[in-house]
Amino acid sequence: MMKVSKAIFPVAGLGTRFLPATKANPKEMLPIVDKPLIQYAVEEAVAAGITELIFVTNSSKRAIEDHFDSNFELEVTLQERGKQELLDIVRGILPDGVSCAYIRQKSPQGLGHAVLCAKQLVMNEPFAVLLADDLIDGDQEPCLQQMIKRFHEQQASIIAVEKIAPTETKKYGIVDVGGVQKELASVQNIIEKPDPALAPSNLGVVGRYVLTPAIFALLEQTHKGSGGEIQLTDAIAKLLKQESVWAYQFTGKRYDCGSKLGYLEATVAYALKHPELAQDFKRSLENLVA
Ligand code: G1P
Repeated sequence: MMKVSKAIFPVAGLGTRFLPATKANPKEMLPIVDKPLIQYAVEEAVAAGITELIFVTNSSKRAIEDHFDSNFELEVTLQERGKQELLDIVRGILPDGVSCAYIRQKSPQGLGHAVLCAKQLVMNEPFAVLLADDLIDGDQEPCLQQMIKRFHEQQASIIAVEKIAPTETKKYGIVDVGGVQKELASVQNIIEKPDPALAPSNLGVVGRYVLTPAIFALLEQTHKGSGGEIQLTDAIAKLLKQESVWAYQFTGKRYDCGSKLGYLEATVAYALKHPELAQDFKRSLENLVA
């Protein structure tokens, strides 16, 4: 099986849950402490060996392109003012040897459609998909790196899952692993956002996938599903009839930054780990909740 060197970042979503903050700003540019969400996802991908970043964007997401491009004026000014540390931070956003490509999703037709938009750029290679809304603190090892290891061991697609509250199944793709409790389990079926009564398990898909390119032909045949959108989940349901697909319960903590509560939790957790802020922030927090 080929090396996984490409990752798709679907970033064309409207971010309606964060309006008005996301009226003129992409939701992926919302910061957790001092870095935008999309940068965390990119750092996770790069740490896992990804060298080609493919962003599926729309016309209101130009700030993402600018973030991963150089900013000549800013860099010169920082240099003139002797702010070397900040200059290194700005220049280090995109490491050497990593390239970005942008492709427009003309209309919001769902995650499956967004992934399909990147077909010509991915070609016939296995690839990763990262949803920046799901911020994952991999702790010892970035989540995508854990998954790529399993991908090479199994020579098959890997989907990240975690146990979710049984009442929350309508928010996730849910996998059927035939009741197997292991960290890595063969997927028998997958359903997008089922009612709790119809959910085959409490294992919800989180926004990390490592997929074989066979998914593209299946996405082309996938009709609108849940929410009237072309769902990646529905194409994966077809894929697992041809190839094995594995559900992987990763090690680490996921924050659902697509929701206000998850976003605030992530902000607090990351601030409490931030080298410059941790101590003072802990004290402020203690005072606030006292
Ligand atoms: C998407 C997927 C869903 C998955 C979720 C993870 O849904 O369609 O299967 O569980 O991401 O975040 P969305 O949250 O974009 O509605």
